[in-house]
Amino acid sequence: MLTKAPRGTKDLFGDEINEWVEMEKIIRNLCSDFGYGEIRTPIFEHTELFQRGVGETTDIVQKEMYSFQDKKGRNITLKPEGTAGAARAYLEHKMYANPQPTKLYYITPAFRYEKPQAGRMRQFHQFGIELFGAESATADVEVITVAAELLKRMGISKVKLHINSLGGPECRKKYNQKLKEYLGKNLDNLCETCKERFEKNPLRILDCKKESCGDIVANAPTVLDTLGDECRDHFEMVKTLLDEMGIEYVVDPGIVRGLDYYTRTVFEFISTDIGAQGTICGGGRYNNLVEELGGPSTPAVGFAVGLERLLLVREAEKGKKEYAPSKDIFIGYIGEKALVKAHGLVYKLRQKGIKAESDHLKKSVKAQMKYGDKIGAKYSMILGENEINTGKAMIKNMETREQIEVDLSNIVEIIGDLI
Ligand code: HAM
Repeated sequence: MLTKAPRGTKDLFGDEINEWVEMEKIIRNLCSDFGYGEIRTPIFEHTELFQRGVGETTDIVQKEMYSFQDKKGRNITLKPEGTAGAARAYLEHKMYANPQPTKLYYITPAFRYEKPQAGRMRQFHQFGIELFGAESATADVEVITVAAELLKRMGISKVKLHINSLGGPECRKKYNQKLKEYLGKNLDNLCETCKERFEKNPLRILDCKKESCGDIVANAPTVLDTLGDECRDHFEMVKTLLDEMGIEYVVDPGIVRGLDYYTRTVFEFISTDIGAQGTICGGGRYNNLVEELGGPSTPAVGFAVGLERLLLVREAEKGKKEYAPSKDIFIGYIGEKALVKAHGLVYKLRQKGIKAESDHLKKSVKAQMKYGDKIGAKYSMILGENEINTGKAMIKNMETREQIEVDLSNIVEIIGDLI
């Protein structure tokens, strides 16, 4: 047990961490290009934030949260997603007093107690953006373009954008009634959780993962049929703008999202490549969350991408990325005096930004050279008594095996020029 990470978690290192660092660099550049500033909120928040924000009747709150009491008896939860924390911070720091919109992004671990499988973890990572303080469809579409551009920059193409509208509170009231009329006829066949949801929040029944409920849900009426004029116009504008930007989409009334805060536009990017956990990005508009948390009425829209899934999709499409080790130079040595010189030189080279390595294990010269090869050194140099006495040494190009004689008195500059 002590030698195994907890179920649903994963260590990231080696080639994999290189992929993560590269992906995070792409994300940070992307956010800078689209004008989003980073926010880092705590890993844990008051449990009530998620109960109120994500919704009491969602799977996340009912079944998946890592919640505990701290030593003072406060109810604390490890964040299952990033939106509620970002909204809380927006409110706490009165960001609504700044010129709007406020455009934030985050890269964060998130925690959900789900059954682990490929692409589904208990600790996973999200990149998300939240745009607060703008009601217009242009904001919805800007947010969608960020996700679309991320996929492009990651070299992913086998992904489809699905969009839907859940309407505003009025349309939802009408829809809930219609849905209840339909579901009421099948109430006995729903699972126990959904029977409870029937009264409190029938929309949640639409994303139940149980097969028995799925069959009933398949023929349920859709929200799109009950949209009022304003919500319909908003959705039409979203589609017009997506067309203008050349972003392909399908209108999919089945997209209802698993969190309660959504109003109007919702969307998911779904991979056609990685099977069951194909939803790599989900988001939408949430015009009431900030107010529900006690703030001023603030329209908002955002999304989150599951980073594990994003990499899975890229791997399915482009294969696993391999990172060959690479160093600029390996400085070997023979004897104690040369050991001191070699390590001193390595330090000076590193200070100049040159990737230099030496040997820490007092290996034989032959073993040192092998090691230099293994770590991908482009050049190597061996220092011994003779080199130190004459002030001259040989630098070897490890690929061509060519050697050149160099002067040790200005060796840092010589190596710098070479590299
Ligand atoms: P979500 O759909 O619950 O939305 O999660 C967003 C993405 O996180 C999913 O599409 C998926 O890629 C990834 N994800 C979720 N659960 C897991 C898991 N157990 N293992 C691996 N990946 C997972 C949200 O979280 C909203 N906060 C998105 C949002 C932001 N809406 C507005 N702003």
